[in-house]
Amino acid sequence: MKVLITGATGLVGSQIADLYISKGHSVHYLTTRSSAIKNEANYKGFLWNVKDMTIDAACIDGIDTVIHLAGASVFQRWTDEAKEAIMSSRIDSTQLLVNLLKDNEHNVKQVITASAIGIYPDDQDAEAFKENEIPPYADNFLAEVCIAWESIAQQFKETGVKLAIVRIGIVLATNGGALEQMAQPVKFYAGAGFGNGKMWQSWIAVDDLAGIFYHVSENRLEGVYNGVAPHPVRNRPMMEAIGKAMGKPVFLPNVPKFVMKLMLGEMAAVVLSSQHVSSSRIEEAGYEFQYPQLDQALEKYI
Ligand SMILES: NC(=O)c1ccc[n+]([C@@H]2O[C@H](COP(=O)([O-])OP(=O)(O)OC[C@H]3O[C@@H](n4cnc5c(N)ncnc54)[C@H](OP(=O)(O)O)[C@@H]3O)[C@@H](O)[C@H]2O)c1
Repeated sequence: MKVLITGATGLVGSQIADLYISKGHSVHYLTTRSSAIKNEANYKGFLWNVKDMTIDAACIDGIDTVIHLAGASVFQRWTDEAKEAIMSSRIDSTQLLVNLLKDNEHNVKQVITASAIGIYPDDQDAEAFKENEIPPYADNFLAEVCIAWESIAQQFKETGVKLAIVRIGIVLATNGGALEQMAQPVKFYAGAGFGNGKMWQSWIAVDDLAGIFYHVSENRLEGVYNGVAPHPVRNRPMMEAIGKAMGKPVFLPNVPKFVMKLMLGEMAAVVLSSQHVSSSRIEEAGYEFQYPQLDQALEKYI
């Protein structure tokens, strides 16, 4: 395969790029930064500017699979400006890729775009949500972003390619991402749960997430797949498991919801919402998890 990845310089994209390269495939990637351009035999960078809607069309040469992850980080205070960047970086970049496929000869067979489990209702009591069990959607900004992103991605089908969408859960990795944030206070014996500590945290090991993207492309799967591990946990047990893995027990009471909101503003929704999400569809499609249990993932990434 020859894969074009957007967001290849990020936490998830870099793992996906490494996986394809390790299996003997070539990777092209799009970046907004000329400093991030590399020109190696199996890893070649191309520039795009999503604000100006410009893209180096040579990025598509020889490509059969496109993986679209790029977007401004949601882990920032949600000012009006930040919200605009979070939304437009995903919507406009998707439109730019659709235009690229419409306006140029290409051999692309499949596009796989990211979305997030934040699209599912915020519910502490629900059974694990499957891909076809929405609407109703969550009633917050993140869900709005996911709905808009998944909706505009449908245009890829008009270009004659297969479309798959992976709704990504809380990604656990060694450097960066949610685990680093959660582990930071634990390191100083200041770890605690959030709110009532009962929110479902549908996590996934970054190696498994990369494996799911690979599996979807290898088998040309279509439709929506949840990118979460088979055993989600609630917030307080998650924090306690992180403490156990670090040898630093979590004993403090949970940080109340209003304090989280004061600290983080509207963005607190990212840490306070509860999404109980099922991995059954991707397992039924043949994916075997390397890290199905939280303790296994923590042992690897802590
Ligand atoms: N990590 C998670 O827990 C998680 C959970 C759910 C969903 N997701 C979604 O999965 C995707 C990848 O996540 P990640 O954690 O790997 O993100 P990340 O580490 O923040 O990387 C984001 C990537 O997007 C690119 N990017 C940033 N702002 C951009 C902009 N304005 N226009 C175009 N490209 C831009 C960056 O590329 P350049 O700087 O090279 O241009 C970077 O490679 C994101 O869309 C994220 O929302 C992640």
